Amino acid sequence: MLFNEPSPLETRVLTRRFGLPNSASIDTYLATEGYQAFLKAAKMTPEEIIAEVKASNLRGRGGAGFPTGMKWGFVPRNSPKPKYIVVNGDESEPGTCKDRVLIENDPHQLIEGVLIAGLSVDAHAGYIYIRGEYRYLIEVMEKALAEAYEKGWLGKNIQGTGFDFDLYAHTGAGAYECGEESALLESLEGKRGIPRIRPPFPAVAGAFQCPTILNNVETFCAVPAILRDGGAAFAALGIPKSGGTKMTCLTGHINKPGVYELRLGFPVKQMIEEVGGGIRNGKKLKAFIPGGSSCPVLTAAELEGATMDYDSMASRKTMLGSGGVIIMDEDTCMVKAAVRIMRFYAHESCGWCIPCREGTTWLKKILTRFHDGQGTRTDINLIGDIAKNMLGRTFCPLGDAAAMPTISIVEKFRHEFEDHLNGKPCPYEHSGSMVTV
Ligand SMILES: Cc1cc2nc3c(=O)[nH]c(=O)nc-3n(C[C@H](O)[C@H](O)[C@H](O)COP(=O)(O)O)c2cc1C
Repeated sequence: MLFNEPSPLETRVLTRRFGLPNSASIDTYLATEGYQAFLKAAKMTPEEIIAEVKASNLRGRGGAGFPTGMKWGFVPRNSPKPKYIVVNGDESEPGTCKDRVLIENDPHQLIEGVLIAGLSVDAHAGYIYIRGEYRYLIEVMEKALAEAYEKGWLGKNIQGTGFDFDLYAHTGAGAYECGEESALLESLEGKRGIPRIRPPFPAVAGAFQCPTILNNVETFCAVPAILRDGGAAFAALGIPKSGGTKMTCLTGHINKPGVYELRLGFPVKQMIEEVGGGIRNGKKLKAFIPGGSSCPVLTAAELEGATMDYDSMASRKTMLGSGGVIIMDEDTCMVKAAVRIMRFYAHESCGWCIPCREGTTWLKKILTRFHDGQGTRTDINLIGDIAKNMLGRTFCPLGDAAAMPTISIVEKFRHEFEDHLNGKPCPYEHSGSMVTV
């Protein structure tokens, strides 16, 4: 099933089987070059596999954009401990809904990516941690795993290669924090999902304190294409330092919301106008979040010449993140947007680190009070100051994720805070135009 009609401007690599009859079945997968990349990789050395992933310029699609090949290279293959592959399918970043379509439409692509990762570090077991609220996806995944075992693509001596691999679907605990890699590992081990101190990083001490490759669903899904067509071919789909395609979720005030697979480096203007069909109701763009609600917000003016890739967004002091684009039109109240965003983070802070637990709660209270008409002039700086005091002061980046959009909204839309103090009508109350974060 598809979320939305595909766009002719898409480059269908990870989504190449979307829309085929029974696209999730192993028969469809095998009939369309499925598992061939694994067989190719099984004849390669681990170094050759990792070199191919490095050549692809694949960067982690979970948010941070860390180079995948380099991460795999950090796993100590001579460690006497077992090694694990862990898939991050927690997908809780507001604005992001891409991993679910990848699993729903092509779960075997994910299994094949995991198998190749297993070959690259001599791992023989893995876990797919799926967001608890995606209950139906656990069933899709369980079915695909059963098919793979039945047809000899999981288990002992896979297809006579001598490689053994067991893979399990694991239900997420229903918390945004459990998508943070170290909290995910705690949760996977049956504990409360709170972050671990790093170093050591998961590559060295991950699941059950053993060396672990942990990547996002989309990252693993890119791997079969990389091995099949070669790392250089995948890299060439994107731009230097940002190889391949990106599953991009268009949400908010856009005519054709949905998940689209676009080349990295795709022009933002063309994405909004031609892929997304423009801003809803012919309105103008006011604000743009490129990769989930934890990214600093950009104004329409800042998007001039912007492209959807890691460097273009970094040069504008924001992030490509998870590819969860949130479009806000001219009628959006940015104070209300800040309230909505902070309500989410205050609810989702796991409470382990005080700056995050207290900071998100106080920011939610002050922003709500401010939006409700009881703000004072000193509140504007106070909001910015509290947010700045959270930056870099927590074990995991949830505190940063809450602070960064808030700081950017206060800095770039300060006039809207002042308008609220000066009794100007709030555009939200006026039009009700608000994206649901
Ligand atoms: C609070 C928080 C939530 C996160 N949620 C997710 C998530 O749902 N899915 C995900 O892949 N990464 C998430 N991340 C990023 C992971 O910690 C990690 O960087 C990522 O899974 C690594 O995979 P990648 O290199 O393939 O991107 C989150 C990070 C933070 C701080």
